[in-house]
Amino acid sequence: MSLAEEIRVSHKITLPQLTQLLETDDKVVIEDLRQHAQAQAQTIYGHDIYLRGLIEISNICRNNCYYCGIRKDNRNLTRYRLYKQQILDCCRKGHTLGFRTFVLQGGEDAYYTDDRLCDIVNCIKRDFPDCAITLSMGERSHESYQQLRKAGADRYLLRHETANEQHYGLLHPSTMSLSHRKQCLFDLKSLGYQVGAGFMVGSPFQTITNLYEDLLFLQDLQPAMIGIGPFLSHHDTPFKSQPNGSSERCLRLIAILRLLFPYALLPATTALGTADPLGREKGILYGGNVLMPNLSPTSVRKQYMLYDNKICTGDEAAECRVCLSKRMEMIGYHTVVSRGDAKTPDEIA
Ligand code: SAM
Ligand code: FES
Repeated sequence: MSLAEEIRVSHKITLPQLTQLLETDDKVVIEDLRQHAQAQAQTIYGHDIYLRGLIEISNICRNNCYYCGIRKDNRNLTRYRLYKQQILDCCRKGHTLGFRTFVLQGGEDAYYTDDRLCDIVNCIKRDFPDCAITLSMGERSHESYQQLRKAGADRYLLRHETANEQHYGLLHPSTMSLSHRKQCLFDLKSLGYQVGAGFMVGSPFQTITNLYEDLLFLQDLQPAMIGIGPFLSHHDTPFKSQPNGSSERCLRLIAILRLLFPYALLPATTALGTADPLGREKGILYGGNVLMPNLSPTSVRKQYMLYDNKICTGDEAAECRVCLSKRMEMIGYHTVVSRGDAKTPDEIA
Protein backbone atom coordinates (compact mmCIF):
# COMPACT_ATOMS: atom_id res chain seq x y z
CA MET A 1 0.00 0.00 0.00
CA SER A 2 1.28 3.46 -0.79
CA LEU A 3 1.50 6.10 1.88
CA ALA A 4 -1.48 7.99 0.45
CA GLU A 5 -3.52 4.79 0.37
CA GLU A 6 -2.68 4.07 4.00
CA ILE A 7 -3.90 7.52 5.02
CA ARG A 8 -6.99 7.17 2.86
CA VAL A 9 -7.92 3.90 4.56
CA SER A 10 -7.07 4.84 8.15
CA HIS A 11 -7.95 8.58 8.08
CA LYS A 12 -4.85 9.00 10.23
CA ILE A 13 -1.40 10.42 9.65
CA THR A 14 1.79 10.49 11.70
CA LEU A 15 4.27 13.35 11.88
CA PRO A 16 6.94 11.38 9.93
CA GLN A 17 4.36 10.57 7.23
CA LEU A 18 3.34 14.23 6.97
CA THR A 19 6.98 15.28 6.79
CA GLN A 20 7.65 12.77 4.04
CA LEU A 21 4.67 13.90 1.96
CA LEU A 22 5.52 17.57 2.34
CA GLU A 23 9.25 17.24 1.73
CA THR A 24 9.52 14.62 -0.97
CA ASP A 25 10.62 15.56 -4.49
CA ASP A 26 9.52 12.17 -5.81
CA LYS A 27 6.98 12.93 -8.54
CA VAL A 28 5.50 9.42 -8.30
CA VAL A 29 4.70 9.86 -4.60
CA ILE A 30 3.19 13.31 -5.21
CA GLU A 31 1.08 12.12 -8.13
CA ASP A 32 -0.11 9.13 -6.11
CA LEU A 33 -1.19 11.48 -3.31
CA ARG A 34 -3.01 13.73 -5.78
CA GLN A 35 -4.77 10.83 -7.48
CA HIS A 36 -5.98 9.28 -4.23
CA ALA A 37 -7.27 12.66 -3.03
CA GLN A 38 -9.04 13.37 -6.32
CA ALA A 39 -10.58 9.89 -6.36
CA GLN A 40 -11.77 10.30 -2.77
CA ALA A 41 -13.39 13.65 -3.58
CA GLN A 42 -15.05 12.21 -6.68
CA THR A 43 -16.43 9.22 -4.78
CA ILE A 44 -18.36 11.62 -2.56
CA TYR A 45 -18.91 14.77 -4.60
CA GLY A 46 -18.58 13.49 -8.16
CA HIS A 47 -17.55 16.26 -10.55
CA ASP A 48 -19.69 18.85 -8.78
CA ILE A 49 -18.10 22.07 -7.57
CA TYR A 50 -20.01 24.01 -4.95
CA LEU A 51 -20.05 27.78 -5.15
CA ARG A 52 -20.18 30.33 -2.36
CA GLY A 53 -20.71 33.99 -3.19
CA LEU A 54 -18.29 35.96 -1.03
CA ILE A 55 -19.48 39.40 0.05
CA GLU A 56 -16.73 41.37 1.77
CA ILE A 57 -18.96 43.52 3.93
CA SER A 58 -16.37 45.59 5.81
CA ASN A 59 -12.65 46.22 5.93
CA ILE A 60 -12.91 47.92 9.32
CA CYS A 61 -11.28 45.81 12.02
CA ARG A 62 -10.37 46.26 15.66
CA ASN A 63 -7.64 43.63 15.40
CA ASN A 64 -4.01 43.88 14.39
CA CYS A 65 -3.09 40.45 13.05
CA TYR A 66 0.50 40.85 11.83
CA TYR A 67 -0.19 39.21 8.46
CA CYS A 68 -3.40 40.95 7.47
CA GLY A 69 -3.64 43.86 5.03
CA ILE A 70 -6.80 45.31 6.62
CA ARG A 71 -5.40 45.30 10.18
CA LYS A 72 -6.39 48.25 12.32
CA ASP A 73 -3.02 50.00 12.20
CA ASN A 74 -2.82 50.07 8.42
CA ARG A 75 -3.55 53.72 7.67
CA ASN A 76 -2.93 53.37 3.92
CA LEU A 77 -6.33 52.20 2.83
CA THR A 78 -9.78 53.67 2.59
CA ARG A 79 -12.09 52.01 5.04
CA TYR A 80 -15.59 51.00 3.97
CA ARG A 81 -18.53 49.01 5.12
CA LEU A 82 -21.59 47.78 3.27
CA TYR A 83 -25.03 48.52 4.68
CA LYS A 84 -28.05 46.25 4.65
CA GLN A 85 -29.46 47.38 1.33
CA GLN A 86 -26.08 47.05 -0.43
CA ILE A 87 -25.63 43.54 0.97
CA LEU A 88 -29.13 42.57 -0.18
CA ASP A 89 -28.35 43.98 -3.62
CA CYS A 90 -25.24 41.76 -3.80
CA CYS A 91 -27.33 38.75 -2.80
CA ARG A 92 -29.92 39.56 -5.47
CA LYS A 93 -27.24 39.74 -8.13
CA GLY A 94 -25.71 36.54 -6.81
CA HIS A 95 -29.01 34.70 -6.75
CA THR A 96 -29.60 35.55 -10.42
CA LEU A 97 -26.13 34.21 -11.18
CA GLY A 98 -26.97 30.89 -9.50
CA PHE A 99 -25.43 31.32 -6.07
CA ARG A 100 -27.30 29.57 -3.27
CA THR A 101 -24.82 30.34 -0.49
CA PHE A 102 -23.78 33.82 0.57
CA VAL A 103 -20.73 34.32 2.74
CA LEU A 104 -20.70 37.60 4.64
CA GLN A 105 -17.09 38.23 5.58
CA GLY A 106 -15.44 41.20 7.23
CA GLY A 107 -13.15 42.60 9.85
CA GLU A 108 -14.33 42.78 13.45
CA ASP A 109 -16.30 45.97 12.88
CA ALA A 110 -18.26 47.23 15.94
CA TYR A 111 -20.98 48.62 13.65
CA TYR A 112 -22.32 45.08 13.20
CA THR A 113 -24.01 44.73 16.55
CA ASP A 114 -26.05 41.61 17.11
CA ASP A 115 -29.24 43.53 16.34
CA ARG A 116 -27.94 44.88 13.04
CA LEU A 117 -26.35 41.65 11.90
CA CYS A 118 -29.43 39.60 12.90
CA ASP A 119 -31.59 42.01 10.91
CA ILE A 120 -29.35 41.56 7.84
CA VAL A 121 -29.41 37.76 8.20
CA ASN A 122 -33.19 37.82 8.65
CA CYS A 123 -33.73 39.90 5.54
CA ILE A 124 -31.48 37.67 3.40
CA LYS A 125 -33.40 34.62 4.59
CA ARG A 126 -36.72 36.37 3.92
CA ASP A 127 -35.74 37.34 0.37
CA PHE A 128 -33.76 34.21 -0.53
CA PRO A 129 -35.21 31.32 1.49
CA ASP A 130 -33.51 28.72 -0.70
CA CYS A 131 -30.05 30.01 0.25
CA ALA A 132 -27.61 29.20 3.03
CA ILE A 133 -25.97 32.03 4.94
CA THR A 134 -22.39 31.75 6.07
CA LEU A 135 -20.92 34.35 8.40
CA SER A 136 -17.21 35.05 8.71
CA MET A 137 -17.10 38.02 11.05
CA GLY A 138 -14.48 36.90 13.52
CA GLU A 139 -14.68 36.27 17.25
CA ARG A 140 -17.97 37.09 18.99
CA SER A 141 -19.63 35.98 22.22
CA HIS A 142 -21.57 32.74 22.65
CA GLU A 143 -24.70 34.86 23.10
CA SER A 144 -24.03 36.65 19.83
CA TYR A 145 -23.46 33.44 17.88
CA GLN A 146 -26.67 32.09 19.43
CA GLN A 147 -28.74 35.07 18.31
CA LEU A 148 -27.28 34.97 14.81
CA ARG A 149 -28.06 31.28 14.55
CA LYS A 150 -31.65 31.94 15.61
CA ALA A 151 -31.84 34.71 13.00
CA GLY A 152 -31.02 32.13 10.32
CA ALA A 153 -27.24 31.90 9.93
CA ASP A 154 -26.38 28.34 8.86
CA ARG A 155 -22.59 28.31 8.77
CA TYR A 156 -19.62 30.16 10.26
CA LEU A 157 -16.06 30.39 8.98
CA LEU A 158 -13.38 31.14 11.51
CA ARG A 159 -9.94 29.89 10.62
CA HIS A 160 -8.06 28.86 13.74
CA GLU A 161 -4.89 30.15 11.93
CA THR A 162 -2.53 27.87 13.88
CA ALA A 163 -3.20 25.36 16.64
CA ASN A 164 0.11 26.05 18.40
CA GLU A 165 0.12 28.64 21.23
CA GLN A 166 3.65 29.91 20.60
CA HIS A 167 3.10 30.15 16.87
CA TYR A 168 -0.22 31.94 17.44
CA GLY A 169 1.66 34.47 19.58
CA LEU A 170 4.10 35.14 16.73
CA LEU A 171 1.25 35.90 14.31
CA HIS A 172 -0.95 38.02 16.59
CA PRO A 173 -0.64 40.72 19.22
CA SER A 174 -1.02 39.64 22.85
CA THR A 175 -4.58 41.04 22.95
CA MET A 176 -5.63 37.99 20.93
CA SER A 177 -5.56 34.40 22.15
CA LEU A 178 -5.68 30.99 20.57
CA SER A 179 -7.73 29.60 23.44
CA HIS A 180 -10.48 32.16 22.78
CA ARG A 181 -10.47 31.42 19.07
CA LYS A 182 -10.76 27.68 19.74
CA GLN A 183 -13.53 28.36 22.26
CA CYS A 184 -15.43 30.28 19.58
CA LEU A 185 -15.14 27.34 17.21
CA PHE A 186 -16.46 24.88 19.78
CA ASP A 187 -19.26 27.32 20.75
CA LEU A 188 -20.28 27.60 17.11
CA LYS A 189 -20.32 23.84 16.74
CA SER A 190 -22.41 23.35 19.85
CA LEU A 191 -24.94 25.89 18.52
CA GLY A 192 -25.50 23.77 15.44
CA TYR A 193 -23.55 25.80 12.89
CA GLN A 194 -21.73 24.04 10.07
CA VAL A 195 -18.30 25.25 11.05
CA GLY A 196 -15.29 26.08 8.91
CA ALA A 197 -11.79 26.25 10.36
CA GLY A 198 -8.42 26.47 8.63
CA PHE A 199 -5.00 28.04 8.41
CA MET A 200 -2.51 29.74 6.12
CA VAL A 201 0.15 27.54 4.58
CA GLY A 202 3.65 28.94 5.00
CA SER A 203 2.68 31.61 7.51
CA PRO A 204 5.82 33.12 9.07
CA PHE A 205 7.62 30.79 11.53
CA GLN A 206 5.34 27.82 10.66
CA THR A 207 7.00 24.40 11.03
CA ILE A 208 5.84 21.01 9.82
CA THR A 209 5.18 20.15 13.46
CA ASN A 210 2.83 23.17 13.60
CA LEU A 211 1.02 21.85 10.54
CA TYR A 212 0.75 18.46 12.21
CA GLU A 213 -0.78 20.17 15.24
CA ASP A 214 -3.25 21.86 12.88
CA LEU A 215 -4.31 18.44 11.57
CA LEU A 216 -4.72 17.06 15.10
CA PHE A 217 -6.82 20.07 16.10
CA LEU A 218 -9.01 19.64 13.04
CA GLN A 219 -9.46 15.96 13.89
CA ASP A 220 -10.66 17.04 17.31
CA LEU A 221 -13.00 19.75 15.98
CA GLN A 222 -14.31 17.81 12.96
CA PRO A 223 -15.39 20.91 11.01
CA ALA A 224 -17.69 20.70 7.98
CA MET A 225 -15.33 22.92 6.01
CA ILE A 226 -11.57 23.47 6.05
CA GLY A 227 -10.17 26.53 4.30
CA ILE A 228 -6.47 26.75 3.62
CA GLY A 229 -4.45 28.99 1.34
CA PRO A 230 -0.87 30.15 1.12
CA PHE A 231 0.26 33.07 3.28
CA LEU A 232 0.93 36.01 0.95
CA SER A 233 2.69 39.10 2.25
CA HIS A 234 1.13 42.55 2.26
CA HIS A 235 3.38 45.57 1.93
CA ASP A 236 1.71 47.54 4.77
CA THR A 237 2.01 44.91 7.50
CA PRO A 238 4.76 43.87 9.92
CA PHE A 239 5.20 40.76 7.75
CA LYS A 240 5.89 42.71 4.57
CA SER A 241 9.33 41.13 4.14
CA GLN A 242 8.29 37.58 4.98
CA PRO A 243 8.37 35.08 2.11
CA ASN A 244 5.10 33.91 0.60
CA GLY A 245 3.84 30.43 1.40
CA SER A 246 4.29 27.74 -1.21
CA SER A 247 1.32 26.92 -3.44
CA GLU A 248 2.80 23.44 -4.00
CA ARG A 249 2.79 22.74 -0.26
CA CYS A 250 -0.77 24.07 -0.07
CA LEU A 251 -1.87 21.64 -2.79
CA ARG A 252 -0.31 18.68 -1.01
CA LEU A 253 -2.07 19.74 2.20
CA ILE A 254 -5.43 19.96 0.42
CA ALA A 255 -4.85 16.40 -0.77
CA ILE A 256 -3.89 15.23 2.72
CA LEU A 257 -6.97 16.94 4.19
CA ARG A 258 -9.17 15.16 1.64
CA LEU A 259 -7.76 11.79 2.71
CA LEU A 260 -8.16 12.59 6.41
CA PHE A 261 -11.58 14.25 6.08
CA PRO A 262 -13.30 12.56 3.10
CA TYR A 263 -16.58 14.48 3.47
CA ALA A 264 -15.14 17.92 4.20
CA LEU A 265 -15.88 20.94 2.06
CA LEU A 266 -12.46 22.01 0.83
CA PRO A 267 -12.21 25.29 -1.09
CA ALA A 268 -9.63 26.10 -3.71
CA THR A 269 -9.07 29.59 -2.36
CA THR A 270 -8.45 32.98 -3.94
CA ALA A 271 -5.04 33.06 -2.22
CA LEU A 272 -4.14 29.83 -4.02
CA GLY A 273 -5.30 31.39 -7.29
CA THR A 274 -3.17 34.45 -6.54
CA ALA A 275 -0.03 32.41 -5.79
CA ASP A 276 -0.45 30.36 -8.97
CA PRO A 277 -2.54 31.42 -12.00
CA LEU A 278 -3.87 27.85 -12.21
CA GLY A 279 -4.04 27.43 -8.43
CA ARG A 280 -7.81 27.04 -8.24
CA GLU A 281 -7.89 24.39 -10.98
CA LYS A 282 -5.05 22.53 -9.28
CA GLY A 283 -6.80 22.86 -5.90
CA ILE A 284 -9.75 20.94 -7.36
CA LEU A 285 -7.48 18.34 -8.99
CA TYR A 286 -5.86 17.79 -5.58
CA GLY A 287 -9.21 17.03 -3.91
CA GLY A 288 -10.92 20.39 -3.39
CA ASN A 289 -14.65 20.77 -4.15
CA VAL A 290 -15.59 24.39 -3.39
CA LEU A 291 -14.96 27.80 -4.97
CA MET A 292 -15.73 31.14 -3.38
CA PRO A 293 -15.97 33.78 -6.10
CA ASN A 294 -16.26 37.41 -5.14
CA LEU A 295 -19.71 39.01 -5.10
CA SER A 296 -18.60 42.28 -3.49
CA PRO A 297 -19.35 45.48 -5.41
CA THR A 298 -16.42 46.23 -7.73
CA SER A 299 -16.11 49.69 -6.13
CA VAL A 300 -14.88 48.25 -2.80
CA ARG A 301 -12.91 45.20 -3.90
CA LYS A 302 -9.53 46.88 -4.00
CA GLN A 303 -10.04 47.96 -0.39
CA TYR A 304 -10.35 44.39 0.83
CA MET A 305 -6.74 43.67 0.03
CA LEU A 306 -5.66 41.09 2.59
CA TYR A 307 -2.40 40.48 0.70
CA ASP A 308 -0.62 41.97 -2.31
CA ASN A 309 -1.73 41.22 -5.89
CA LYS A 310 -5.07 39.65 -4.92
CA ILE A 311 -6.82 38.46 -8.08
CA CYS A 312 -10.30 39.32 -9.41
CA THR A 313 -10.45 42.75 -7.75
CA GLY A 314 -11.41 44.48 -11.01
CA ASP A 315 -14.04 42.03 -12.23
CA GLU A 316 -17.81 42.13 -12.03
CA ALA A 317 -19.52 39.31 -10.14
CA ALA A 318 -20.93 37.92 -13.37
CA GLU A 319 -17.49 37.84 -14.99
CA CYS A 320 -16.06 35.88 -12.05
CA ARG A 321 -18.95 33.44 -12.18
CA VAL A 322 -18.56 32.78 -15.90
CA CYS A 323 -14.77 32.65 -15.72
CA LEU A 324 -14.77 30.09 -12.92
CA SER A 325 -17.40 27.90 -14.55
CA LYS A 326 -15.33 27.82 -17.72
CA ARG A 327 -12.18 27.04 -15.80
CA MET A 328 -13.94 24.12 -14.13
CA GLU A 329 -15.35 22.79 -17.43
CA MET A 330 -11.79 22.84 -18.82
CA ILE A 331 -10.74 20.32 -16.17
CA GLY A 332 -13.88 18.19 -16.42
CA TYR A 333 -15.87 19.60 -13.49
CA HIS A 334 -19.05 21.68 -13.30
CA THR A 335 -20.24 24.35 -10.91
CA VAL A 336 -23.69 23.57 -9.52
CA VAL A 337 -26.65 25.70 -8.47
CA SER A 338 -27.23 24.44 -4.92
CA ARG A 339 -26.64 25.32 -1.28
CA GLY A 340 -23.80 22.82 -1.39
CA ASP A 341 -24.12 21.31 2.06
CA ALA A 342 -21.57 18.70 3.06
CA LYS A 343 -22.64 15.16 2.26
CA THR A 344 -22.93 12.52 4.95
CA PRO A 345 -21.93 8.84 4.83
CA ASP A 346 -25.66 7.85 4.75
CA GLU A 347 -26.14 9.74 1.48
CA ILE A 348 -23.25 7.92 -0.15
CA ALA A 349 -24.05 4.41 1.08
N1 SAM B 1 -12.28 38.76 10.58
C1 SAM B 1 -12.65 37.45 10.18
C2 SAM B 1 -11.79 36.43 10.87
O1 SAM B 1 -10.94 36.78 11.67
O2 SAM B 1 -12.01 35.25 10.65
C3 SAM B 1 -12.65 37.24 8.68
C4 SAM B 1 -11.73 38.06 7.85
S1 SAM B 1 -10.05 37.50 7.82
C5 SAM B 1 -9.32 38.71 6.78
C6 SAM B 1 -10.16 36.05 6.77
C7 SAM B 1 -8.91 35.22 6.61
O3 SAM B 1 -8.00 35.85 5.73
C8 SAM B 1 -8.09 34.97 7.85
O4 SAM B 1 -8.64 33.94 8.59
C9 SAM B 1 -6.70 34.67 7.29
O5 SAM B 1 -6.38 33.29 7.34
C10 SAM B 1 -6.77 35.18 5.85
N2 SAM B 1 -5.66 36.12 5.58
C11 SAM B 1 -5.45 37.30 6.18
N3 SAM B 1 -4.28 37.84 5.76
C12 SAM B 1 -3.75 36.97 4.87
C13 SAM B 1 -2.55 36.94 4.12
N4 SAM B 1 -1.65 37.92 4.21
N5 SAM B 1 -2.33 35.89 3.30
C14 SAM B 1 -3.23 34.89 3.20
N6 SAM B 1 -4.37 34.86 3.90
C15 SAM B 1 -4.64 35.88 4.74
FE1 FES C 1 -9.06 41.83 11.29
FE2 FES C 1 -7.55 40.94 9.40
S1 FES C 1 -6.90 41.90 11.26
S2 FES C 1 -9.71 40.99 9.41
